[in-house]
Amino acid sequence: MTAPTAQAATRSSAELIRAEDTALAHNYHPLPVVVARAEGVWVSDVEGRRYLDMLAGYSALNFGHRHPALIEAAHRQLDQLTLTSRAFHNDRLAGFAEGLAELTGLDMTLPMNTGAEAVESAVKVARKWAYEVKGVARDRATVVVAADNFHGRTTTIVGFSTDEVAREGFGPFAPGFRVVPYNDLPALEAAVDETTAAVLIEPIQGEAGVVIPDDGYLAGVRDLTRRANALFIADEIQSGLGRTGATLAVEHERVLPDVLLLGKALGGGIVPVSAVVARREVLGVLGPGQHGSTFGGNPLAAAVGSAVLDLLRTGEYQRRAAELGEVLDAGLAALAGRGVVGHRSRGLWAGVDIDPAIGTGREISERLMAEGVLVKDTHGSTIRLAPPLTITREELTWALARLAAVLSA
Ligand SMILES: Cc1ncc(COP(=O)(O)O)c(C=O)c1O
Repeated sequence: MTAPTAQAATRSSAELIRAEDTALAHNYHPLPVVVARAEGVWVSDVEGRRYLDMLAGYSALNFGHRHPALIEAAHRQLDQLTLTSRAFHNDRLAGFAEGLAELTGLDMTLPMNTGAEAVESAVKVARKWAYEVKGVARDRATVVVAADNFHGRTTTIVGFSTDEVAREGFGPFAPGFRVVPYNDLPALEAAVDETTAAVLIEPIQGEAGVVIPDDGYLAGVRDLTRRANALFIADEIQSGLGRTGATLAVEHERVLPDVLLLGKALGGGIVPVSAVVARREVLGVLGPGQHGSTFGGNPLAAAVGSAVLDLLRTGEYQRRAAELGEVLDAGLAALAGRGVVGHRSRGLWAGVDIDPAIGTGREISERLMAEGVLVKDTHGSTIRLAPPLTITREELTWALARLAAVLSA
């Protein structure tokens, strides 16, 4: 039998896609491209065709593919120590947590791996905080969430999703969640009461199509949760770490939540790294044995995560996202009425509503792929653009020209 690595090298894209179809669960519908190599904002497929990556792993690749500083940090750590589990201390974790505290202005970190794990962890911690600090009656704690949210795929999380595709067939679901419309402070105010442990929202709803709330909404959530003695949990797993032109999307309203959820880009596109970062009063409720993860806080993750924080400390990526975000926004505005019926953008992140008469989001994504640009559709006729923050103005302009060409074809 041929070794799997040799097989991968000799099989064509079409053969690999057919093999995946048989050997993998069909829980994704990827574009028909098989990526084999990548550098910066560019990827190439098995046959050597090059594409500009305008999705960046849903913001997991904010610093581009294989950023030299991140690769070096990973290599260095691979040669020292990769895993201890939290049964022992490791010499990388304290510095990573200190860096997160410095970056966010919060006190403590609970390190996890995936975004969904961070969300689950925050729900657990918020409930415990509600019972022990706020004084909510046992098993009565509620968490208020927004309609059209996307926080991950676990059973608890899809239980409070409003997306029927994500939920259907996976019940029964955990109780204790209330769903209110996004960007609606009166509805939120009506849903919050003495049982409310937390309000959990995305500062910008990515999966929903890069939906940006009105100015004042995040500050309003902050004010309301403070008055109600409930925690404000901001899921910045996709919006955070430079994407919107600031380190955190909540900074656009000068708001500091009680709990921040980070993931995706925190792992530098190399390893899964997520974190619940919070005030001491909140994470302080956890004691030994009450939560954990074998891989959470492992030294490789901490080393790469610390190198990510070093990059963010320079401010360069936030600045690039803000400046090039204007190019992106202007480029999309110029396409209004020429195939684009609406768009929303902040920093290097945009949801673009395509005229359904021209094609579905999927069809436009496939046509862009043929032009050498990789994006992904979200709902219906919306495509999402989120290039690495390392993209140049020329590359961004080129990608926008490809979009214009596809829309006018
Ligand atoms: C806002 C938000 N929260 C949570 C998640 C889940 O992250 P993961 O896929 O790493 O579990 C995502 C993923 O897209 C996300 O966008």
